[in-house]
Amino acid sequence: LRIIVLAGGISHERDVSLRSGRRVADALTDEGHFVTVLDPGANLLTTLAEQAPDLIWPTLHGATGEDGALLSLLETTGIPFVGSRGPAAALAWNKAIAKELVLRAGFATPPAIALSTETFRDLGATSVLEHLVRAIGLPLVVKPAQGGSSQGVTIVRAPADLPRAMVDAYTYADTALVEAYIDGAEVTVAVLDTGDGPEALPIVEIVPLDGVYSFEARYNAGETDFYTPARLSDDVAVTVAAAAVAIHTLLGLRHLSRVDLIVDAAGTPWFLEANVLPGLTETSLVPQAIEADRHTLGATYSALATNALV
Ligand code: DAL
Ligand code: MG
Repeated sequence: LRIIVLAGGISHERDVSLRSGRRVADALTDEGHFVTVLDPGANLLTTLAEQAPDLIWPTLHGATGEDGALLSLLETTGIPFVGSRGPAAALAWNKAIAKELVLRAGFATPPAIALSTETFRDLGATSVLEHLVRAIGLPLVVKPAQGGSSQGVTIVRAPADLPRAMVDAYTYADTALVEAYIDGAEVTVAVLDTGDGPEALPIVEIVPLDGVYSFEARYNAGETDFYTPARLSDDVAVTVAAAAVAIHTLLGLRHLSRVDLIVDAAGTPWFLEANVLPGLTETSLVPQAIEADRHTLGATYSALATNALV
């Protein structure tokens, strides 16, 4: 196939995207596909029309890639592409909305308050902070409602650390999500559809060596221990995998996503977020799950590409 991989873009995750794109391109090239990597700019639609590839594979993480804007644009070209459609991406990309939908479907998700930067300012920061600590309890997690790669995410253990955490989150999004901290195993489930419907790959358990799966722990090899499959009982693993597939489906995601959860001591999975265009870099989680499933990246990506044509 003639495939254009889109990588780069203008989000905070540009560098991660370039790494994902290169790795996907290499794996597809090894399988005999003709792959070009393209950093989308103002002439994107013209270039796509001129080159008329068989398939587009967007690996654009963050805003404009994962928020559905670019995916809707791709839809207008009529060229098939790997991954979710724009409208579904827009819902899943907003963690506050995704959590609400998942909660309504009967799954657990940590209690949270979404707070826009305007509300935060208008209500007076100090009283808001006191309210947040009372309502959510400590520790709590502050994160941008839209964003990825742990950018702007802080685990807050003392009230004094909350103001800084809010400012960090607002650096990346206009809305911050203040979420209860759930004690348990941090796991992630890659959900892939290569033609037989969405299926969960082996669950990956994440154990960052310094306790927090930060940007650094994500993209520097050796800063995180991974257990694939996760150290869960068979029953719990089945529940977690089923939850991930159900969440991928209820959010309307397509082909490939990654669902992040915490599994507490009772074995209950707590939904954190669904990643529309999960990282595919050397240290990312989906490639680890594919390889743990005894598949090569090339064969799996090739199957995803072929399935996206239909
Ligand atoms: N946001 C990064 C790319 C991830 O989900 O892996
Ligand atoms: Mg994410």
